[in-house]
Parts: sequence; C-alpha cells; structure tokens
Amino acid sequence: MSDRAKTEKSKELFDRAKESIVGGVASTLHKSEYEEYPIYIERGKGSKLYDVDGNEYIDYMGGFGPMILGYCPPAIGEAVIEQIAKGSQFAAPTESLNDVSKKLTEIIPCADVVSYQGTGTEANMVIFRMVRAYTGKDKIIKFEGHYHGWSDEEMISFAPDSVKMMGPRIKPWKTLGSAGQLVKATEDIIVLPWNDLALVQKTLKRQKHEIAAIITEPIMCNCEVVYPKPGYLEGLREVTAENDVLLIFDEIITGFRLSLGGAQEYYKITPDICSFGKAVAGGFPLAGVAGKREIVGADVHPVGTFNANPISIAACKATIKELEKPGVYDRMARLTRRLTEGIKAIAKKRNIILYCEGVASIWQVAFGLRERMNDFRDNFGVNKSDYQIFRKGCLERGIRLHPSRGRFYTSAAHTDEDVHRTLFVVDEVLSQISKRQN
Ligand SMILES: Cc1ncc(COP(=O)(O)O)c(C=O)c1O
Repeated sequence: MSDRAKTEKSKELFDRAKESIVGGVASTLHKSEYEEYPIYIERGKGSKLYDVDGNEYIDYMGGFGPMILGYCPPAIGEAVIEQIAKGSQFAAPTESLNDVSKKLTEIIPCADVVSYQGTGTEANMVIFRMVRAYTGKDKIIKFEGHYHGWSDEEMISFAPDSVKMMGPRIKPWKTLGSAGQLVKATEDIIVLPWNDLALVQKTLKRQKHEIAAIITEPIMCNCEVVYPKPGYLEGLREVTAENDVLLIFDEIITGFRLSLGGAQEYYKITPDICSFGKAVAGGFPLAGVAGKREIVGADVHPVGTFNANPISIAACKATIKELEKPGVYDRMARLTRRLTEGIKAIAKKRNIILYCEGVASIWQVAFGLRERMNDFRDNFGVNKSDYQIFRKGCLERGIRLHPSRGRFYTSAAHTDEDVHRTLFVVDEVLSQISKRQN
C-alpha cells in the first residue's frame, strides 16, 4: 500500500463521466458533497479494495452494507457462476427459490411467509401497501432521520439540513428530500422524533383509528448511528399491539448483519412485518418482505421483472450458508470491539472528544460528542469538519471510510491485521487533528 494515495486517474475518469452521466455517478451517494471526485475502484478482494491508480484500501463501507462476507467471497462466486451456466432470468420460479424462501421463514422471527423485490426502496413501498390493505387505514408513522428509500412517501424528513428546518420537536414539520417529490405524498405520513415513546403513545391515543403502522429502523443507521434507548423497541411493540397498529421493522441494514435473524432476533422483539435487503445476498441485488401470513398476503400483488432473479437467489443461498458457519458473527463482533475500544483509547490519549461505539458489525465515530445520540436532531452536534479531516487522512493512508457520515461495517473477511493497521493509521491521523486543535 502506498503511504500517500495518489488518485489522478480517478479524477480523470470523473471528469469524463460528467459528460455522459448526470452528476457523474450512478447513485448520488457514490460521490459525497465533501469529495471533489469519487475514488474509482478496479477490484475488491476480502476486506480490501484496489483503485484504478493502484492504491489498496482496507474498506469499512461494505458497498453500503451488502458485502458482509467481504469482496469476492469464493463460495458466492462459485454459486453465482454455477447459476449463470444454467441461466440468469426465466420469468418463472425455480426450486432454489422455494429452498431459499423456506430458509428465510426459518431464520427471520416474524416470517410466516416472504415476498420479493429488487431493492429496499421497493420492499418498503410494497410494505406500505400491505399494511394499508390489511388494516384499511392510510396513515403511517415514520421517524425523523430514518431512511426507507427514495420514493415520494419514503423520503420524507430523512435528512433536513438544519434543526430549524425541522420545526418543533413535538410536532415536526415534514421536509421533502428531492425536487419533483409530491407535497401531497406527505399527507398520510406522520413524522415524529425517534426514541421518544411518550410522543408515540400520545399520537396513537389521538389517531389510532387512522394509523395503519409505524415504520422504524431498529437501529437508526442513516446518519451516524443512533441506538434505541433501553426499553424503546419493546415499548413500540407494546403500544402498537395495544392500539391495533402494525409494527414494521426496516431491516434493510440490520437484517443478516446484527445477527442472522436481524435486529428482531438480536433484540428479541418481533415486529408484524419487516423488510430485508443489502446483506441478504452478499453483494447481489435482492430485497423483500417477511411477516405474518395475513399481512404479507393481504390483497397486494408484488411484481417486478427481476424479483428474486435466479442469480440473486443463488447468491442468497450461498450467503446464508456462509453466515451460518459457527463463529462468524462472534468474530465480526470481536473485531468491531477491538476497533471501537482501540479508537476510544487513542482519542483519549490524544485529548479528542469523540464518541465511538459499535454493535455486532456496525460501528461509528462521532467527533465532538461525549455521549450517544438519541435522535436525528442530536446529529447536528457532530463535528463534521473534523470527521472530514479524519476521513481524508485515513483514505490517504489506505483506510476507506464513509464519505459523509461516521458509520462503518466490519465484514467476515476483516482480519486482526486489518484492525492493527487501522488503529495505527487512526493514531497518526488523530495526532494531527489533536495538533490542530491544541
Ligand atoms: C434502512 C434502509 N432502508 C431502505 C433503504 C433503501 O434500500 P435500497 O437502496 O436498496 O433501495 C436503505 C438504503 O440505504 C436503508 O439504509
């Protein structure tokens, strides 16, 4: 690995990309507002990525979550190649689809049955339909800062730029995420701050006759990371059940990552219905819905040309097999602990205020915070400019972190050697930040 990454070719490629791709990238998040240009990747292997300029990086982005087994895991590659030899798309079911679906119903606690989509956005969209079809009610509660996808109804109050834009905490304003988004799409969405059970109780008491469901990320992973307060998820489960309102877990990130059965297994709280995606197929596009038979089977008919395509199903089957091997989750959690404990110790030594915590294979750093956040509004207390100095310093030294927020993933392919190297780099970078601050 070169000590100082040089990335001229990435810059050149991005300049060319802007001529033919809007914004130069296929997904807005492939280049953050903090980067002049994104790093172009040539290949990945295990915990490492290699860019077009020949730099090697230990990667903690995990392709935004799917790469729980690391890059190019042999077992997934073999399963996919075997399926490619048979065909990639049939517009017909396969026996493997039955096997995988049966397995998912055994793994996911809330799953009597499953249903498929290609992306997390679509999975949550179809869940909105299912809960409305089942309950006959229209309104859905979502929480500030939670991301459920980019559709008109999902991308509400996801990432407002300031607390001012969010309005009063007890009755937040609804903010739109995109030009062209229908204002009327906000009509049936009720927005609340997260981690405030009393507010949910009050809202349900007042409006339960019109509220179909509450949707929540069990851990709020889409700013830095915000954990549920002790008793909060249990409380959501109780108040929804008491008021005939359904509980939806968006497990697109937490599914197969916190444990094989997702956050619902990890926290032992079973929602009525959940979405899954990302890590479920180890790097191939697959998403879907799991839940009670009568809700998933409400009179809604999921469609999609590539739903549960044979390649993704082959990848999913192989991914589950790998994740079921003894010790995989314990190992990821141990490496995460080594990273977070190590970073905390370095920050303390360097006199830097930094919150660093992890759960299973998800972890975070938040500069300027001493304690965990409770909701999206707390995220404005994070020192983003120190994070950018940290991220750039790490990138130049071969550690790839999230371009805009301090949330990272450990994979089954990370090693103790990776952790050792990461902590060495973190020490060097935090020492520089400490010199600037003092
Ligand atoms: C919690 C959560 N839900 C839903 C989605 C949307 O998934 P997709 O990008 O596959 O549409 C994401 C994507 O990051 C997510 O983090």
